[in-house]
Amino acid sequence: MKNLIFIITFALITFSLTNPIRAEDDKNKQTDQASKAIKEIDLNEVMAECNKSFTIQMSYVDALNKTGSFPDESDKTPKCYVRCMLEKTGIMSSDGVFDLKRIPVVFANQHDGDFLVKDEVIASLCAERKEKCQCEKAYNFMKCFRTTEINYYEKETQ
Ligand SMILES: *[C@@H]1O[C@H](CO)[C@@H](O)[C@H](O)[C@H]1NC(C)=O
Ligand SMILES: *[C@@H]1O[C@H](CO)[C@@H](O)[C@H](O)[C@H]1NC(C)=O
Repeated sequence: MKNLIFIITFALITFSLTNPIRAEDDKNKQTDQASKAIKEIDLNEVMAECNKSFTIQMSYVDALNKTGSFPDESDKTPKCYVRCMLEKTGIMSSDGVFDLKRIPVVFANQHDGDFLVKDEVIASLCAERKEKCQCEKAYNFMKCFRTTEINYYEKETQ
């Protein structure tokens, strides 16, 4: 069960990197801060809590990881799940303000505890948002983040 939850977490917030990019980013690690963050944030707990209020199917989590978006973007509940995750991890405030410094700290959970400056750089490209609905805002932020990362990854490996 713990492993499953970890995999799900991985799929949602992750945006896993392949080895070439990971190696390139080694110089950006700040492992001490990251390992502190891992202790501080219990992502499993946050995910379970958010899934209780805003039920999201595994296929949606997978789709966000693989394609950068949800299969049905008219469905509000999974977007509110993303909002819940971002709020409870301190990435986005309840009034929709992003904390860019928080992003690599939270995402370090997905990079074996590595604190990647790249995460903050991508986030800064995606955090300027005008959506009034906080669920839309959170989802569009994650969509932008993951899409940018997929494009970055594809460019790097060509
Ligand atoms: C997320 O997608 C990447 C490829 O983009 C893949 O390597 C990874 O296994 C996926 N993670 C999950 C949990 O599906
Ligand atoms: C959320 O909960 C539902 C059932 O309550 C479950 O089917 C689904 O897989 C859960 N989603 C995640 C991402 O764990």
